[in-house]
Amino acid sequence: EVQTRTAATSASRSLMHSRGLMLTLATASTASVRALSTLSASRAVVTGAPACARMLGRRSSARMSVASGARVITGETGNNVTPYIEALIGRNLHTKVDHPLGIIKAKIEEYFNSLDGEVTFEIKDSMDPVVGAKECFDDLLIPADHPGRKPSDTYYISRPGGRELSSSEDVLLRTHTSAHQSTLIKSGAEAFLCTGDVYRRDEIDASHFPAFHQMEGVKLFDPALVGGAMSREEWLESEGCKLIAADLKKTLEGLCDHLFGQVEKRWIDEYFPFTEPSFELEIYYNGDWMEVLGSGVIHSGVLEKCGKSDRHGWAFGLGLERLAMVLFSIPDIRLFWTDDKRFTAQFKAGTLSTFKPYSKYPPCYKDISFWIPEGFEPNDFFELGRTVAGDLLEKVDLVDEFTNPKKGKTSHCYRLTYRSMDRSLTDDEINDLQEKLRELTASNLLVELR
Ligand code: DAH
Repeated sequence: EVQTRTAATSASRSLMHSRGLMLTLATASTASVRALSTLSASRAVVTGAPACARMLGRRSSARMSVASGARVITGETGNNVTPYIEALIGRNLHTKVDHPLGIIKAKIEEYFNSLDGEVTFEIKDSMDPVVGAKECFDDLLIPADHPGRKPSDTYYISRPGGRELSSSEDVLLRTHTSAHQSTLIKSGAEAFLCTGDVYRRDEIDASHFPAFHQMEGVKLFDPALVGGAMSREEWLESEGCKLIAADLKKTLEGLCDHLFGQVEKRWIDEYFPFTEPSFELEIYYNGDWMEVLGSGVIHSGVLEKCGKSDRHGWAFGLGLERLAMVLFSIPDIRLFWTDDKRFTAQFKAGTLSTFKPYSKYPPCYKDISFWIPEGFEPNDFFELGRTVAGDLLEKVDLVDEFTNPKKGKTSHCYRLTYRSMDRSLTDDEINDLQEKLRELTASNLLVELR
């Protein structure tokens, strides 16, 4: 596992982690269904606490380019997109041919379009990251109370039904590229690879960044081959369903060999609301099992909502960063976003090369402790960290947590690792950042600093 974790915090970690499917470089034991597991359902829900991001977003909006910022920082109910996040939208790293993400993407596309058979996979690279909850969740049978729809986990443009209430009218930054499945299927696409930036509020460490990239693949089959409209039960028992699952597995195993060379693989039964059956593919790489993708036979209910009850097919979704970090030996996810020539000049279209770190500047550690209010969401604190320090903040760890039984209050202590990838930071600079973070934490999160 690429991430190092302190044992003491593993319980709260695994909760925070439960959305980590497509990004975490995970072992088999890591909670695997990022957007989609129900694990984090047990997390407390903020009730009435002001979303820090919204206030920050508004205050700074004057500085921003009106055209793009105004689209995602609106001040509407539930809006929690910050200027820091807004600035990531439109970078389109996946379309840069000499960028590691662009190189991996091209390599995957090359594989799919070299498969024999009559299907051509359409390449979809520029779907808008601003989507409706309808496309991102409802069309995929993701229920309104799913943890992935909570404002602590997702960046919303607006939630007309109220900050805490999920509705089909919500507008948000897509949390996965599956958000485009139904739109593309409805428009008549038979097979496609859809790549884009996706956004999730999350913890901070070497393999988590609030924006990352996914690729969604879909292939529909000829009804003459697999059957047409039938009941869900009938479908699941049918030869057609088995045929599609077998084609999916063969195709994705081939993809792994294409990317990693001959590797050992294993299939794990999974649950996703929008596929049935669902599988996850892992490969044995560098001495560990690593999750590569989620996939399955598209749920009849999803196709029915597309007006395609007579069609069947498979789908998969994979995270480009997790693959690129392994294939290029890129140690920190922030590097994908740097314009530093020492990074960008190392990569060339068509070549999987090993990244040579140009230097590692010293880290600086700062702790912050506070009594948490009811419904405290760690992600809200991490968001403030991003807002204050941007990518100078390398990692945030919960290093201590205890409850004072007399006061009935719980304290969290977080250790912040500040480090620039490009230069040395001064003490003054870091002290300033830390002080700002303390102030904002106290004023925005209703915590009591210790
Ligand atoms: N959208 C899922 C996620 O981000 C990944 C995924 C799983 C995509 C299964 C699929 C699929 O198309 O069939 O966690």
